[in-house]
Amino acid sequence: MDMKKMAGDKAAEYVKDGMVLGLGTGSTAYHLVNAVGALVKNGMNLRAIPTSKATEKQARELGIPLLTIDEVDHIDLAIDGVDEIDPAFNAIKGGGGALYREKVVATLADEVIWIMDESKLVDKIGAFHLPVEIAQYGSKQAMKKMEDFGFHPVLRVKDGATFVTDNGNYIADLHLGAGFDIADVKEKLAGIVGVLEHGLFLNMCKRMIVGTTAEGVKIIENASK
Ligand code: A5P
Repeated sequence: MDMKKMAGDKAAEYVKDGMVLGLGTGSTAYHLVNAVGALVKNGMNLRAIPTSKATEKQARELGIPLLTIDEVDHIDLAIDGVDEIDPAFNAIKGGGGALYREKVVATLADEVIWIMDESKLVDKIGAFHLPVEIAQYGSKQAMKKMEDFGFHPVLRVKDGATFVTDNGNYIADLHLGAGFDIADVKEKLAGIVGVLEHGLFLNMCKRMIVGTTAEGVKIIENASK
């Protein structure tokens, strides 16, 4: 079976009746959303908050009852994909450009599960670019600051045009290299006007659910949660 589907299907086993659920974005979360749709079809009572317009559309088509982020004061469980994650549960997300909503949802969740195929497990994060959501207004200034810090930002382009997020902003992809100083980058980004959020999701999940070819689904629990 597809490793991403394995992880998405397994994660759906953690979804319980009555939950308010955060639904992630991306090709792994796609399988999760399908599995949640099947639970709803079989009579489970749940409500979900999507982390992107794409996930919202998929969830609507599956008949999953939806809430907006401002209609809730907490989320029981958020399940989402990652781009890279290290053994200390430090993750990079936002390859699909949905990092802002994903972070709002994950931050509000009592419990977070990241789902992935085995290629996402790394010793040190940073080989994958770090997505940063920036305001359109003054974006050149924010890009310059990131350049000055040595972050090698590249403004994301899709289909020949500057990529615009669901929130109407741009994405700068930083090329930091594996093993970059996470705390330093996080602190410097926080000081740049126009940076709305970054794709560092540090020690947020309670468990990773990993689809592997050799061992099937592996569950890695975070003892610190
Ligand atoms: C979306 O913005 C991302 O954070 C995704 O969750 C992440 O990029 C993983 O995507 P895939 O499951 O498609 O690899």
